[in-house]
Amino acid sequence: MEKIVSLCKRRGFIFQASEIYGGLNGVWDYGPLGTELKNNLKQYWWKVIVRDRDDVVGLDGSILTHPAALKASGHVDTFTDPMVDCRTCKARLRADQLAEKNGTKQCPNCGGKDLTEARPFNLMFQTQMGASADPASIAYLRPETAQSIFVQFKNVLDVSRKKLPFGIAQIGKAFRNEINPRNFTFRSREFEQMELEYFCRPEQGMDLLAYWLKERIRFYEEIGINRKRLHILDVPDKDRAFYSKGTFDIEYEFPFGRQELEGVAYRTDHDLQQHIKSSGKTLDYFDEETKERFVPHVVEPSAGVDRTVLALICDAYDEDSAPDEKGKMETRIVMRFHPRMAPMKCAVFPLLKNKEALVAKAREVQALLRSHMNVFYDEGGAIGRRYRRQDEIGTPFGVTIDFETLGEKGEELRDTVTLRDRDSMKQERVAIKDLVETISSKIR
Ligand code: GAP
Repeated sequence: MEKIVSLCKRRGFIFQASEIYGGLNGVWDYGPLGTELKNNLKQYWWKVIVRDRDDVVGLDGSILTHPAALKASGHVDTFTDPMVDCRTCKARLRADQLAEKNGTKQCPNCGGKDLTEARPFNLMFQTQMGASADPASIAYLRPETAQSIFVQFKNVLDVSRKKLPFGIAQIGKAFRNEINPRNFTFRSREFEQMELEYFCRPEQGMDLLAYWLKERIRFYEEIGINRKRLHILDVPDKDRAFYSKGTFDIEYEFPFGRQELEGVAYRTDHDLQQHIKSSGKTLDYFDEETKERFVPHVVEPSAGVDRTVLALICDAYDEDSAPDEKGKMETRIVMRFHPRMAPMKCAVFPLLKNKEALVAKAREVQALLRSHMNVFYDEGGAIGRRYRRQDEIGTPFGVTIDFETLGEKGEELRDTVTLRDRDSMKQERVAIKDLVETISSKIR
């Protein structure tokens, strides 16, 4: 994991938030490449979940949330983790994550055994809205994106005029005051979720749970995650929320262990019923054909953006060997991102930076590609070094403009370039006019 964390900082994927002030625990900033990677992930999720389907629409709900909504959802009273204090080093610890030696619980920081009893700690961030600081001004930063979907269910249904089954999808920030943020970005206090609430008739719930589990596994494969590192946990009755009739966790084998990426849960009609009870409003569905009025059930695939970005990074990291400029083999760090996810799709290199005609042609090729994909231009240093820099950030294609391109080695090669493949390091000669289609077909 150390190598991955170091690469993330060195190459601008992820930085500690407020680093120059000593950092803010459990909060992260995404650098230039991390931002591109994260955007590619979110855009692909939005494409397959919303744009490619007739039965799902989007929502962008607010982060600041009415306390009554989170009281109704159960977050105000029960969204807690069990916390203990270590009386020796004063650390606050999650009771279910303590170290254990010879059957005795210990503080993982100092090894101390003098621990308090566990007590519930609410994970929500509370804030104050407006100028007065009385209890009526309390608001919360949302702990999940899901609740605004339930609260807006009726409005979205009315405007979209969808028939069951249909879904409402959302990508956005969520906040949890985790007692022990850890494992890099895996458990953060500020993170993003990609959630779909897929509403249905009660009798469709279990089948749709199986359907969405399959869809979601396919998604992870399509973004390039190795299927062998993905696992499905059928959450047993005793560990499921009381209202859920079935929940699967999709887990990934991170270097620090097998951990949850996404939960796919059949939540029955619990959430809508809670909001009906608390708000006194009707959040039901009228079936025109059967003339029935009922509260829909819901299946919820709920994924973490940051966790998936971390899985993409861990899955892509690889080391192999490649010759340096003198032909001596050296270790090559290569991020084998699926081209669809790669932050940069293509790098353009003039063979030499002091040859005006090469640079001009390279800029021309960059401009041609730019309107179709994210392109990086690099003219500094030996070509082998430039390839290596791109390998380390996972750029799947490299285009080199050389003397052949200028027609200096025969007319038949004029306006062709070398196209290098990151993984095989093989190079082929491609006409500039075919470049856009050749690369685009692989990054879609
Ligand atoms: N609406 C259901 C819900 O929020 P959850 O299992 O608490 O369910 C869903 O969260 C997903 O959100 C998780 O599978 C994970 O990917 C992500 N997530 C939750 N807490 C997180 C945290 N502290 N840091 C990063 N991601 C988190």
